[in-house]
Amino acid sequence: MLSKILRPLTNLVRDFLSKPDERGDLTSDLFRFKIRAKARQLINNHNGFLLDIGCGDGLLYENLMAKENKLRCIGVDTEYEILATAKKKFRKKEQNRLSFLKAHAQNLPFLDKTIDNVICINIFYNFHTKDNVVETLEEMERVCKRDGFIIFDVRNKINPFVYLSFKFVWIYDTHVTLKAYSLKELTTILTSKGLVIKETIPIGFPITMFAPIILVKAGY
Ligand SMILES: C[S@@+](CC[C@H](N)C(=O)[O-])C[C@H]1O[C@@H](n2cnc3c(N)ncnc32)[C@H](O)[C@@H]1O
Repeated sequence: MLSKILRPLTNLVRDFLSKPDERGDLTSDLFRFKIRAKARQLINNHNGFLLDIGCGDGLLYENLMAKENKLRCIGVDTEYEILATAKKKFRKKEQNRLSFLKAHAQNLPFLDKTIDNVICINIFYNFHTKDNVVETLEEMERVCKRDGFIIFDVRNKINPFVYLSFKFVWIYDTHVTLKAYSLKELTTILTSKGLVIKETIPIGFPITMFAPIILVKAGY
């Protein structure tokens, strides 16, 4: 009963907090917008192949491929419909530098060490289990070149707002799984694969350890 009232209310707030040009897009909201903006800053002086895992309708690619860089992007997602939306959106512009493919984050159809930079944002917190996150990070590491970077975000369980809103998600949304992690536990997975954290960017609060979201750039 409570969720019947809270769910539309949550959607309304989310819509209200979305940037006008992203409003109505399936993957828009203020925090996701900020994560994409910061992620763009991390990659926009890079060249080569960028793999975007769980690309959705491709909001990351807006203003990403400038004339000054030679970036080529491959977006993968498990959903045909969302990939079709993305393809349609970018049909005219940038089509020779952008491709979309149906694939699973945990089983990427790419050879080892072939991608320059691998990104996966706004998705880990929706995975059902931590194993899914571990497998994705392992796949990211497998396909990423040794001089490349992997970039992902952590919905930080040390932040009280994240912790409580994820724990009690059943009250306001009965349809989603929300799981938060600490930077430390994901760092352990990276370390076991020989990766180190090169940069962390706090989003939503200036102190990384307590920020609701931490954007991580890792490499060898
Ligand atoms: C919230 S959206 C984020 C989209 C995009 N990364 C962004 O920030 O705009 C999450 C996307 O991940 C996709 N997804 C979920 N599980 C996946 C998996 N195992 N492998 C690949 N994509 C997945 C969903 O279909 C959805 O499009």
